[in-house]
Amino acid sequence: MAGRSLCTGSLFNKFLSKNLSSPACVKLGSTWSNVEMGPPDAILGITEAFKKDSSPTKINLGVGAYRDDNGKPFVLECVKRAEQKMLQEKLDKEYAPISGTADFCLESAKLAFGENSVVIKEGRNMTVQGVSGTGSLRLGAAFFSKFYSKSKDFWIPTPSWGNHTPIFKHAGLDVKSYKYYDASTCGFDFQGAMEDISKIPEGSVIVLHACAHNPTGVDPKPEHWKEMSSLIKKRNLFPFFDMAYQGFASGDIDKDAFALRLFIEDGHEVALAQSYAKNMGLYGERAGAFTIVAGSKEEADRNMSQMKIIIRGMYSSPPIHGASIVTRVLTSPELRKLWLGEVKGMADRIITMREKLVAGLAKEGSSRNWQHITDQIGMFCFTGLKTDQVERLTKDFSIYLTKDGRISVAGVSSSNVDYLARAMHEVTK
Ligand code: LMR
Repeated sequence: MAGRSLCTGSLFNKFLSKNLSSPACVKLGSTWSNVEMGPPDAILGITEAFKKDSSPTKINLGVGAYRDDNGKPFVLECVKRAEQKMLQEKLDKEYAPISGTADFCLESAKLAFGENSVVIKEGRNMTVQGVSGTGSLRLGAAFFSKFYSKSKDFWIPTPSWGNHTPIFKHAGLDVKSYKYYDASTCGFDFQGAMEDISKIPEGSVIVLHACAHNPTGVDPKPEHWKEMSSLIKKRNLFPFFDMAYQGFASGDIDKDAFALRLFIEDGHEVALAQSYAKNMGLYGERAGAFTIVAGSKEEADRNMSQMKIIIRGMYSSPPIHGASIVTRVLTSPELRKLWLGEVKGMADRIITMREKLVAGLAKEGSSRNWQHITDQIGMFCFTGLKTDQVERLTKDFSIYLTKDGRISVAGVSSSNVDYLARAMHEVTK
């Protein structure tokens, strides 16, 4: 018998069950005895802690998930109607192709690059369905790891989304960083970014947040993007866009795709990860896409053949439900119009909450400059709160946010914004 059990009825077992929260059954020499308990996820772990808190005034500003003004998860009307249509169509549950549904991939590329994009006309995009933004990034990472011969270095902004580093490292890539955020202004460090980018070794991959930078909410202005694009070209770097918030930043899907489309106009070959979690509220449906823009259709076809081999070995083929919703919303003129209005509604509510939070802080008597809250854009605000202030917010006010001071403005509502302002003022006095 492998591993002698110390479980049954022994005094030792009684001692363990009294003193440990983990199972009170310890097997000597068990296979997994060397596995250490891992830390909770820096973002998703916050929700776990929030759920355990019994305070009636608790607020979860950790994870980036949109809430309506009553603090409730929001299922978009266009999504509900698409699902009704799908029910009526009596769809089957057959496998999707390895690369995902063709219509979904085409519509995703059109959404990102524009209806009349030359990239799509020339068939230079290899677009596959991914498992939301994370899965799409992971597919890209796997493809670059195997086929991008110029470098294994992925350069991400400082700071960047907490999951970028694990995703790229998981695929065997090396993650390095370039300056992005200026803590003294709570804004974009354009000078610092340009200086750092000019030193990135040729051939490296540079990761760019297409809009609504996560976690800072700080985006380069169009004139910054133009200079960054020409420098990135000059340095022969490969731009890899993460676009998880198209439409969510400004409320306008074309405006939010400005940087990506500019890079295409400037002649870059790019990689792109897209997500429908935020802009269509399809968080748990895991709908996303990954694209590589190649030099020719023939090159894109070869890339596709290899990408399919990678996907088959990872999960065979993607889930169909979320992709079916997206395809219906994007292809039906009526649902698309409804969607555009709903994305704008979400973006506008967030902008209003930013304004209310700043007004609330002023009303509380805060003498600090909080202008960055309204200057920043998208789902997140990088408040500038220090770790100890964040800890006090959680401990004394049951307000949950990530340690770096990021708040998901999407979790702020008319009914909790005053409480949040009071708490933020209390910990920053
Ligand atoms: C976030 O940054 O909170 C979201 O993108 C959700 C996630 O998976 O981290």
